[in-house]
Amino acid sequence: MSVRIDVGLGPRSYAIHAGAGVLAQAGNLLAQFAGGTVPVVSDEKVAVRHLAALQNALTAAGIQNRPIVLPPGEGTKSFAGLESLCTALLESGVERGGLIIALGGGVIGDLTGFAAGVLKRGIAFAQIPTTLLAQVDSSVGGKTAINTAQGKNLIGMFHQPRIVLADVTTLTTLPPRELRAGYAEVVKYGALGDDNFFGWLEANGAKVVSGDTQARIHAVAHSCKMKADIVARDEREAGERALLNLGHTFGHALEAATGYSERLLHGEGVAVGMALALRLSARLNLCPVNDVVRLERHLRTVGLPAAIADIPGPRPAADVLIAHMAHDKKAEGGKLTFILTRGLGKAFVTQDVPDDALHEILSA
Ligand code: NAD
Ligand code: GLY
Repeated sequence: MSVRIDVGLGPRSYAIHAGAGVLAQAGNLLAQFAGGTVPVVSDEKVAVRHLAALQNALTAAGIQNRPIVLPPGEGTKSFAGLESLCTALLESGVERGGLIIALGGGVIGDLTGFAAGVLKRGIAFAQIPTTLLAQVDSSVGGKTAINTAQGKNLIGMFHQPRIVLADVTTLTTLPPRELRAGYAEVVKYGALGDDNFFGWLEANGAKVVSGDTQARIHAVAHSCKMKADIVARDEREAGERALLNLGHTFGHALEAATGYSERLLHGEGVAVGMALALRLSARLNLCPVNDVVRLERHLRTVGLPAAIADIPGPRPAADVLIAHMAHDKKAEGGKLTFILTRGLGKAFVTQDVPDDALHEILSA
């Protein structure tokens, strides 16, 4: 069973197929894009679990393929990782009119998308996301990037995939903590633009996290539909797309202050960041306090952190967090950009946040 969602971007339009069993259909779904040998880029953890199923599906459809398996983890999304991937792709014999497949989480998707964008001045690629975060966020919308010493995702490009295949059955092998971290991005869609969906998550989020297939398909498909619609209206983040960064300004600062370590996964930082964004909104009398309570309760119910105090280890100081925020790529003309909200489902972009209110929220 799968749902098709279209990302309407004129000549760069593509379909997202979200469901259970999509991987087994990959050969048929990708055949129209594939030519010559198709490199399949993955990481070691994903490859042992899901590469064979994908290769079987490709081979059954007559698609020649060649795996490229990289080390797992954020470190692979680097200049060194890009160089070794580009070398392997060139050696794979991929043609300019061919296709590259990314099978993995956001690290593999972002790196492969970037390599596909620059190799031979642009080769088509397909996203087959295997983490919840990648299924609901990073595989859709064409943002690709690598990290540098100066920060995360500072070098990259927009390069839209030709198709996205999100098979929720691949999530059964994902460590529960990674699954929950990805779930924070699902909550983000309800919090930023759809209070009905937030209500659905309050009722069904535990099922999504514990592994109910139908609940997962609905959560992934609805999230992708929301992101597809936003990206179709604002592909290059001139305005509305910035709403997808709800919780991220705070989250990135928390990730930086905790050394991008096991103390805080990206999605966990987004969870705390969303709670801080709503608390700041309530402090500025923009958002009902009850919405802050609902968000924090829901995050905690599914096992996510909802406050700085929930992060293990020494508490990062407010000044340190604010200094990290100033380095965020979303800071413009020395002003920090925030996504605040007038309530669940009503997010907006602003640079108008008094320093004392920000300091107070980060110190509370
Ligand atoms: P990830 O790709 O590192 O995956 C997390 C871990 O899970 C890794 O160890 C991976 O090997 C493992 N894994 C993946 N799928 C698995 C599976 N099915 N079973 C078992 N293990 C599995 O991380 P992520 O959370 O998917 O993505 C984070 C990255 O995404 C960051 O680099 C972030 O910057 C990027 N991102 C990009 C966008 C975008 O719009 N492009 C949006 C959000 C995040
Ligand atoms: N993950 C935010 C975006 O794609 O714009």
